[in-house]
Parts: sequence; C-alpha cells; structure tokens
Amino acid sequence: MSKVFVNLGMTLDGCIAGPNRGPKNPLGDRGIAIHEWLFEQRAFRASLKLGEGGETGEDNRIVEGTIRRIGANILGKRMFEEGEVSWPEEAPFRCPVFVLTHESRPPWERPGGTTFHFVNDGLDSALGRARAAAGEKDVRISGGANVVMQYLNAGLVEELEIAIAPMVMGDGLRLFDGVDARKFELRLIGAIPSPSVTHLRYAVSRS
Ligand SMILES: NC(=O)c1ccc[n+]([C@@H]2O[C@H](COP(=O)([O-])OP(=O)(O)OC[C@H]3O[C@@H](n4cnc5c(N)ncnc54)[C@H](OP(=O)(O)O)[C@@H]3O)[C@@H](O)[C@H]2O)c1
Repeated sequence: MSKVFVNLGMTLDGCIAGPNRGPKNPLGDRGIAIHEWLFEQRAFRASLKLGEGGETGEDNRIVEGTIRRIGANILGKRMFEEGEVSWPEEAPFRCPVFVLTHESRPPWERPGGTTFHFVNDGLDSALGRARAAAGEKDVRISGGANVVMQYLNAGLVEELEIAIAPMVMGDGLRLFDGVDARKFELRLIGAIPSPSVTHLRYAVSRS
C-alpha cells in the first residue's frame, strides 16, 4: 500500500536551511552542510551524476531504500525555485514532481524522467495527482518547511524521516514553526546513528 512520507535533512536545532536562502544561495548560509553526509553516498552521487565512487555502508543503504520507494514527489515553490537554477539538467527526481504554487505554468519535462507539474488548487489535489502517478510506490513530501507544515497539519503524512546532521544552525528555517502539535502523534520506528548523521523514522498518526 502506497505511503505518504516526509524525508528531510535537519540540524540538531531543527533547521532545514540556513539564513539568506534563495535561488542565489540554495539552502542558505551553511545550509549545504546539512547534506554533507549525503553527498558522500554512492547512491546519491549516482542520482546526481556526480561520478563514480562514494560510500557504500549503512548510510548509503538507507539512501538507496529511500530512492527506491519514491514514485512521486511534492515540493513547495520556494524549494523548486532554488532547484530550478541549481539542479543538473537531469533533475535528480527521475519521476513526476508536483510543485505547489500560485503561479500557472505548463509542465516542465527534463531529461532522465523528471517532469515538474505546477499545481494551483491545493494540497489535496497535489496529493491526489502524486498518488495516481506513484502507483504502488510511495509519495515523498520533499519540502520545504511550509509545505511539510501544511501536510502535517492536514493529517496527511504517514511517516516522517529526518536525517539529523551533527550541527547547530542558530538562525535559519525551522521545520516545525507553524506546526499544530495537537493534530498528530509520533511513534519512533527507527533510529540509526552513524558518525556523520542520525537517521530517525517516525510513524505519524492523527490525534
Ligand atoms: N534540508 C532539507 O532536506 C530541505 C528539503 C527541502 C527544502 N529545503 C529548503 O527549504 C527552503 C524552502 O522552504 P520554504 O518553507 O521557504 O518554502 P516551500 O515550502 O518550498 O514553498 C512555499 C511556497 O510554495 C507555494 N505554496 C505552498 N503551499 C501552497 C498551496 N497550498 N497552494 C499554492 N501554493 C502553495 C507558495 O509559493 P507561491 O505563492 O510563490 O507560488 C509558498 O510560498 C529552501 O531553502 C530549501 O532549500 C531543505
């Protein structure tokens, strides 16, 4: 049965991007450090065509599992705007991507299997289209914080996967700002530490 899951990198103090973020500074100041571990993994390097090599241990196995399960992605417009100017021509999703936005825009097809569809009629519509596109596979809510917050508050997220980087941002974009903690409950279903990151998995249910 297809699941809806969030999968993000975060700092110990709850930030998913640094200050001064935007298309000219993707992930903000020091934000790329959140994903430092990820860029070392063979599966992630292959998805971005960064060349041969990379780590093949437990962190890589987790990345492989995540890539394998995704049948469609949902993104917010601000995440998309950063990626539009920084992802390679073969955008790393390799499946349909639904971008929540107020901007009307025709689909944008990239080589390698990624097509961006721009959705103007809300969360449920984006999720319905993503579910249909994903088939048996899972739908990933990829970010940013605003979109994740909306899906959590709507009770539509079934799993929350967070990779915690061993760093404190101090000032940045906090994942849980605006989240209504009364709307859902978390149950820890996995915790895997490595020297460079801690992988946490929670089942999410409506309260
Ligand atoms: N650490 C990580 O793993 C990770 C992952 C993903 C993203 N990020 C970071 O997160 C940051 C972006 O997050 P964010 O919270 O600022 O923004 P976001 O969630 O990416 O996008 C928010 C925007 O999406 C559009 N939108 C959202 N909900 C909508 C709805 N229901 N209907 C229509 N449009 C809707 C609106 O844009 P318009 O009104 O302009 O159309 C809104 O301003 C970036 O810096 C990115 O690098 C980090």
